[in-house]
Amino acid sequence: MTPALLARLLSGEGAALLASLPPYDEAAAFTLADRLRADGFDPDLVAAALTQSRLRARAERKFGAAAHSMLFTVDGLEQATRRQIAQLHARRLSDSGARQVFDLGCGVGADARAFATAGLRVTAVDADEVTAGVAEFNLRPFEHARARCDLAENVAIPDQQLARDVAVWLDPARRTPGVSDMQGRTRRTFRLDQLAPSWDLVRELCAGAATAGVKLSPSFAHAQIPPGTQAQWTSYEGEVLECVLWWNNAAWDAGRSAVVVSDQFAYEVLERDAAGANPETARLDRMHGYLYEADRAVIRAGLSGALVRRVDGVELDTGVGIVTSPREVLVPWAKKYAVIDAIPFNVKALRSWVRDHRIGRLTIKKKGASVDPEQLRRQLRPRGDNDATILVTRVGGAQAVLMLSPLR
Ligand SMILES: C[S@@+](CC[C@H](N)C(=O)[O-])C[C@H]1O[C@@H](n2cnc3c(N)ncnc32)[C@H](O)[C@@H]1O
Repeated sequence: MTPALLARLLSGEGAALLASLPPYDEAAAFTLADRLRADGFDPDLVAAALTQSRLRARAERKFGAAAHSMLFTVDGLEQATRRQIAQLHARRLSDSGARQVFDLGCGVGADARAFATAGLRVTAVDADEVTAGVAEFNLRPFEHARARCDLAENVAIPDQQLARDVAVWLDPARRTPGVSDMQGRTRRTFRLDQLAPSWDLVRELCAGAATAGVKLSPSFAHAQIPPGTQAQWTSYEGEVLECVLWWNNAAWDAGRSAVVVSDQFAYEVLERDAAGANPETARLDRMHGYLYEADRAVIRAGLSGALVRRVDGVELDTGVGIVTSPREVLVPWAKKYAVIDAIPFNVKALRSWVRDHRIGRLTIKKKGASVDPEQLRRQLRPRGDNDATILVTRVGGAQAVLMLSPLR
């Protein structure tokens, strides 16, 4: 979309066209486009309106019903922070004393909207003209939030010494410009030296701000964590989405942490929760009755020790994030299983177990083991009326299989 086409889409005719579209239906889109063109609408405007309709439908999973009053770009939607996580960013800045935030590289404005909703005054900029225009539209419902096209490098931020209530937020683009995939989306990069705005500028701006946060890839390396900051890996419904570095007033617990988020809850696990955990690994002949599997954000943050401590158990293998314990404990950020059996990994022995227990429906999980679950399923030939969950993993350095029953 060009800036001129965006302006037309926001004008009387374009806005009315967009508002008149029925709920998006991929199968009906071609016929609808034909009809609208036959009704005299300009083909470019029809294409732009139908693209918005398609993106709004896709955006529902991130923004719920609010998606239908927002605008998007393909890349902007892909990179936008989902509502539940953006709300956590907003609360963190606000609870750290910020009343005003500069969002430098705001994309379509998903984080910026959450900041505005939390009552923060928002100045948002984006280097891309269309993206900034889309953000400007998405921030219109908020009196105290504005977006414009500008470079982060050009924004004058009030002197941080005087403005203790000013925060800086950055979510640098992790895309390689000009390199697109089959859907026309630019390819992701995980390299710090390819961030835009640059990693040097990000660090300079954050270090100088009273309160700052920067959203990075979940693959951010522990060794790169700047001293005094808090690196926080966040998962949503089990998928690790980001690592945010919190600076200065927002760095409440310097070091590594994890936030495990679902629609029902958000739990934070801190580095100090992991301190003093038993560093031993388990033995197959001494497997306890319960097994706990840490959320991936906890594992990515390198905090499996917090689970070891919490359940007073032993990890199956160093850093694998799976802990066996004789105790049944409530850990909202871990999955829990009863251990039914545990044997060294051996296809023949496993096939006998599956046959003897008349297992027909088999869930195969793997963690830190080199097996192909579908190939293993074919080798095991499950047949019978019973269900089973098996985990192929490493116990004390050797491949093993655990037969499990999931617990609530
Ligand atoms: C990952 S997106 C931001 C997404 C946003 N947090 C959201 O939730 O919608 C990063 C944005 O930074 C913008 N950008 C890249 N370099 C920039 C720069 N030097 N100044 C301002 N914006 C920049 C890109 O155009 C892109 O839209």
